[in-house]
Amino acid sequence: MANQDGLVVKGLTKTYSNKVCALNNVDLQVGPGLYGLLGPNGAGKSTLMRTLATLQLPDSGSITFQGVDAIAKPDHVRRRLGYLPQQIGAYPGVTGQELLERFSWLKGRTVRSERKREVSSLLERVNLSDAGDREVATYSGGMLRRFGIALALLGSPQFLIVDEPTAGLDPAERNRFHRILSDIAAGAIVLLSTHIVDDVENLCSRLSIISKGRVVATGTPDELTDPLKGRLWSKRYARGEPVPEDALNVFATPGGARAIVIHDTSPGEGFVVHTPTLEDAYHYMLSHSSPSEVS
Ligand SMILES: Nc1ncnc2c1ncn2[C@@H]1O[C@H](COP(=O)(O)OP(=O)(O)OP(=O)(O)O)[C@@H](O)[C@H]1O
Ligand SMILES: [Mg+2]
Repeated sequence: MANQDGLVVKGLTKTYSNKVCALNNVDLQVGPGLYGLLGPNGAGKSTLMRTLATLQLPDSGSITFQGVDAIAKPDHVRRRLGYLPQQIGAYPGVTGQELLERFSWLKGRTVRSERKREVSSLLERVNLSDAGDREVATYSGGMLRRFGIALALLGSPQFLIVDEPTAGLDPAERNRFHRILSDIAAGAIVLLSTHIVDDVENLCSRLSIISKGRVVATGTPDELTDPLKGRLWSKRYARGEPVPEDALNVFATPGGARAIVIHDTSPGEGFVVHTPTLEDAYHYMLSHSSPSEVS
């Protein structure tokens, strides 16, 4: 991938003052399009995203965006960045439209009519046109997420970082948001973090799985699932019947449970071949990544 187009992260490391090592030698190469960062709670996703958004400094490592050193020259990133943090702040006494207009102005849109046009098209895009004149403080959780998305899209960023954007969205809004992201990714770098495998499975051309501050796997969804083909088996168990302790994943079913196990040949009676999904690959990578030194 050409350095000039994308984001290159090398050896990024961050240990907080409480000795938690949130990033441990992270390498990433992200080109234009939608890139997923998938990892469980506490994996280091938000730390990585805040660092890439130039809001905090790593202890060591480098970040290069469009060929420019982002740590030495954070303004280069900031001018091109849209960032949706995991939590967006409270803004008492101000309506959604007013707040978007203020931020639009800060982003350099100084002509009032252009600002109004941008804000009304963004409100429409996130399905909040009817709520633009309501105070942001009165928005529901899902509305606030959508409002955050509109904030992040101000100024048509070339680099969009969205941290767990779909948390709290209902299925219809989640699908709508996926479509928005995929449109933007046609002309920008979009980095999306989530612990929801479905968010990345059909949406991201590439992804990295991150666990305990380390990247444990990187590839396309197919590249991550291919090594498991022909090696996964599933079996149903009645309620109360013991499931294999080494199961990769166990799902509740109306009558009991269904376990997925990894085995090169059939593990025995009752097992059927199971086609690997990205979720299987995710569980596999999390359980088979080498133990990390971090707490
Ligand atoms: N400001 C901080 N000070 C100390 N420790 C922190 C701080 N921020 C995060 N951590 C710790 O760093 C680790 C990574 O946290 P981070 O928020 O980056 O993970 P995450 O992958 O975003 O998790 P989640 O899915 O829950 O949002 C966690 O152990 C967390 O407790
Ligand atoms: Mg987080």
